[in-house]
Amino acid sequence: MTARTDARVPRHLAIVMDGNGRWAKQRLRPRTFGHHAGQKAVREAVEFCLRRGIASLTLFAFSSENWQRPPTEVSALMELFLKAIDREVDELHGNGVRIRFVGDLDAFAPELHARMRGAMERTSGNTALNLNVAVNYGGRWDIARAARLAAEAASRGEFGFDEIDEQRLHGYTCLADQPPLDLFIRTGGETRVSNFLLWQIAYAELYFTDTLWPDVDQDRLAEALDDYARRERRYGRTGEQVAG
Ligand code: IPE
Ligand code: IPE
Ligand code: MG
Repeated sequence: MTARTDARVPRHLAIVMDGNGRWAKQRLRPRTFGHHAGQKAVREAVEFCLRRGIASLTLFAFSSENWQRPPTEVSALMELFLKAIDREVDELHGNGVRIRFVGDLDAFAPELHARMRGAMERTSGNTALNLNVAVNYGGRWDIARAARLAAEAASRGEFGFDEIDEQRLHGYTCLADQPPLDLFIRTGGETRVSNFLLWQIAYAELYFTDTLWPDVDQDRLAEALDDYARRERRYGRTGEQVAG
């Protein structure tokens, strides 16, 4: 991986969209009210990335651990995903957005799974923005899956087991065909990764904000990008080396 100190705009932005529940609680409303409100921020983020020419936006919508939430919240989220796909795909497609759902999709109800596949197929030729929606995603799942796929390819004789190195394994991780992750944002005030893009995060810049996800708008995202633009990415080298 080479340093790109000249690049002031991230090519690949990932967001842990956290804080919906607390946003709703502040308003004495049920948690699902916050999830609904969060959809506006998703639209803001997509529009922002299209305007800034960001190649990839990866959103954490549902983690592999989120199944542990109360069943009513889980089913409300599933309903919301289904409706959001039905409502938003036309416009996203019209704006040249390529949608990909990343995660273990087999766990979803057949109807939702089919909608996800349909949206991916329909938008597969688009190039304005890669919108990756992580659902039933876990960073450890991603790495374990990559290891399994690499081992399967090796046992088919495609390469030797001893040739499974970082580069080879990387090729089997989710989002390997997209630019490296430049900026990782978490809203909602927690400073943890919560099993999001563990492999991809290796040299990403991390940005944490207390702003709750439903309150995020394009101005807030612009502040994060301004912060990113001021950083020096050294990739292990010295500041002098990077400047020279
Ligand atoms: C993030 O908001 C959305 C999902 C995990 C689906 P939360 O629902 O985690 O909101 P808080 O963290 O409880 O405020
Ligand atoms: C991470 O948020 C998952 C998503 C935003 C989809 P959580 O709210 O589930 O994470 P924890 O529980 O605070 O670690
Ligand atoms: Mg949360």
